[in-house]
Amino acid sequence: MDYPEQAIGEPFVKNPKMSMRNVDVFYGDKQAIYNVNVDIGQNEVIAMIGPSGCGKSTFLRSINRMNDTVESCRVHGELSLDGEDIYAAKMDPVALRARVGMVFQKPNPFPKSIYDNVSYGPRLHGLASRRAELDEIVENSLRRAGLWEEVKDRLDQPGTGLSGGQQQRLCIARAIAISPEVILMDEPCSALDPIATAKIEELIAELSENYTIAIVTHSMQQAARVSHRTAYFHLGHLVEVNDTEKVFTAPEHALTEAYITGRFG
Ligand SMILES: Nc1ncnc2c1ncn2[C@@H]1O[C@H](COP(=O)(O)OP(=O)(O)O)[C@@H](O)[C@H]1O
Ligand SMILES: [Mg+2]
Repeated sequence: MDYPEQAIGEPFVKNPKMSMRNVDVFYGDKQAIYNVNVDIGQNEVIAMIGPSGCGKSTFLRSINRMNDTVESCRVHGELSLDGEDIYAAKMDPVALRARVGMVFQKPNPFPKSIYDNVSYGPRLHGLASRRAELDEIVENSLRRAGLWEEVKDRLDQPGTGLSGGQQQRLCIARAIAISPEVILMDEPCSALDPIATAKIEELIAELSENYTIAIVTHSMQQAARVSHRTAYFHLGHLVEVNDTEKVFTAPEHALTEAYITGRFG
């Protein structure tokens, strides 16, 4: 089946938080992303879906320069945050990743206490000058991540001792603690049970009031529950971007339809 030259539907928005234009990504000679053009709107939750290996993680990692750490990876095109070129020579990737935070598939708390997991970033970036300020950031971040009540009496215990779902909320608290503008989530629930998953999904809805969120998910139900727009990738091509409801009820492209009706995936 043919790919559309450009994603069909509504890939662009009026007030983009992030804009990606003509993005190609290569691993060595192998191209993983082909000429992707898409915006992510302010305070929007955009879901990225598509069959395994279609480039969702590659694309997500390109928008906070996580791919810089992959030796063979090259990213071409124009990618911007609030109109600022994120690949410009003057852009510090560490500062960028503080503005565009990331939560991974497998919860990956540091082998440190719960408190230190959350305070690590603010300390590193000099966000608090006094212990009381740091305490406040830790409490607020844990509250926003819906974890405070469960851990407030054991902040000095190791983050790795929490359940999987709690660890993932700890990782979200850690991401929030440095006041990011955008949060990228790469299949954040795929290692979690349904109850822990439901908690993270609720959290995404709450967080979207203050943050812009891009979430990769292999669960179409999850995309339908948490996102405003959905982007469908197929073998490195962005095929369709539309309001989530439209994607799941009246997809415009035959490839999208084939995927959502379970003909491949
Ligand atoms: N570090 C890497 N080195 C080489 N190829 C990679 C690397 N990461 C991903 N790829 C390849 O890029 C393509 C897209 O992969 P990925 O972004 O992980 O897809 P998805 O997240 O949609 O499953 C795949 O063909 C995959 O094999
Ligand atoms: Mg992936």
